[in-house]
Amino acid sequence: MLVQATNRLRQASARSRSKHLFDRAKGVFTDGTTRASVERDPFPIYAQRGEGAYLVDVDGNRLLDLNNNFTTLIHGHGFAHVSEAVVDLLRLGTCFANPTEHEIALAELLTARIPAMERVRFVNSGTEAVMFAIKAARAFTARPAIARIEGAYHGAYDWAEAGQGVSPGKDGWDPIPIPTPTYRGTPSSVADEVHLLRFNDVEGLERRLSAASDRIACVLIDPMPSRAGLLHPEPTFIEALSETAHKYGILIVADEVLNLRQGYAGASPRYGLKPDLVTAGKIIGGGFPIGAIGGREEVMRVFGTENARPLLPQGGTFSANPVSMAAGLAAMEAMTPDAFDRLEAMGERLRAGLRASIASRDARFSVTGAASLFRIHPKRVAPLEYRDAHLSAEEAWIMRTMSRYFLEAGILLPYGAAACLSTPMVHSDIDRILSAFDEFLEAKIGPEKERAK
Ligand SMILES: Cc1ncc(COP(=O)(O)O)c(C=O)c1O
Repeated sequence: MLVQATNRLRQASARSRSKHLFDRAKGVFTDGTTRASVERDPFPIYAQRGEGAYLVDVDGNRLLDLNNNFTTLIHGHGFAHVSEAVVDLLRLGTCFANPTEHEIALAELLTARIPAMERVRFVNSGTEAVMFAIKAARAFTARPAIARIEGAYHGAYDWAEAGQGVSPGKDGWDPIPIPTPTYRGTPSSVADEVHLLRFNDVEGLERRLSAASDRIACVLIDPMPSRAGLLHPEPTFIEALSETAHKYGILIVADEVLNLRQGYAGASPRYGLKPDLVTAGKIIGGGFPIGAIGGREEVMRVFGTENARPLLPQGGTFSANPVSMAAGLAAMEAMTPDAFDRLEAMGERLRAGLRASIASRDARFSVTGAASLFRIHPKRVAPLEYRDAHLSAEEAWIMRTMSRYFLEAGILLPYGAAACLSTPMVHSDIDRILSAFDEFLEAKIGPEKERAK
């Protein structure tokens, strides 16, 4: 059944308009796309339009979208509140060198909801938000280095990305994680100023932070690192991080670009994390480019005060453009506590259902995630750190096969990244995901068991 499904997919794809577009795109883009993160198996699915929880591709397939542009679209596609807010604005001008009221309104919403955001700055992406949060921590502490979690994704700034995609060598994992930059040719001095920590490793955290405490400006941490495995933080790890950072005057930067969608107040309060700075992006732009840095007023003053020259003069041609601000406000206003609760309840039902399937079939899978986020692992035990979540070649193949199986069932399941729910989803969508997973296990595990007999 599994092989048949995959074959059907391949045959259909040979005539597909997506394939045709990909062939055309290769004439202008070196790898046929402009984002390394675009999935291609063997070519990308080109989107034609979005309809709530669904994406319609250029071949007319209507797919339940569990990617939502890498968790950005918390209201799915074409959310009316956002469209109306933006359409009204387009006629009035889309960007100015002058501030607008829209930026104040969005900042007021964020500071009212997120305890650690006493003051805010807007930029245009999560990468930029993380970059300026690191620069702010450096400016505040007058220290050059950062610590970050092995395998976690924080965007493309050199110091933020070193150590994000590491793999075991032929003799296995290095006992001390090495911050290898992903991009070839990155100056070697970058790695000198990055200290890698293993998620949920209390002893390693204390040892590594204390060894370089006078050089480390901040610990950059996503409370539930998604690319590293959508890992659940252990309370002891969060406590140790808070105590050690406090002891050495190291700032905590919570990167909530993705995980802010975990709740009305964001992710940090759920896990007892009290950051000095928080970065946000994705959902707060309502589907338009955005990033934000927020934090304690004392730290945020590095961006400038009314009477003093800024230590960190941050600008940006499109920063705080009114379109992103108004779209973000419309999206976030609709995310009331009830809306977050409803998404959370759907997420819990989904994760519980996936786990029940796994248990009933005694399958070698596990599930991580919280609120509206989930990730399926081809591992019997749910990973606690990046090394546990790292896929062998065989496991990578299983995940690829699972994504294909979901696609056959009309569901876009991201491969190797967090999957997410959106507010237009209904219970029957959850049932569909659960059925697809159970059928996949039946197709995959059933034959395995027969062979083992
Ligand atoms: C935790 C985290 N930080 C930073 C980024 C970078 O954000 P952007 O893609 O908007 O630059 C991402 C993107 O997925 C992210 O998940």
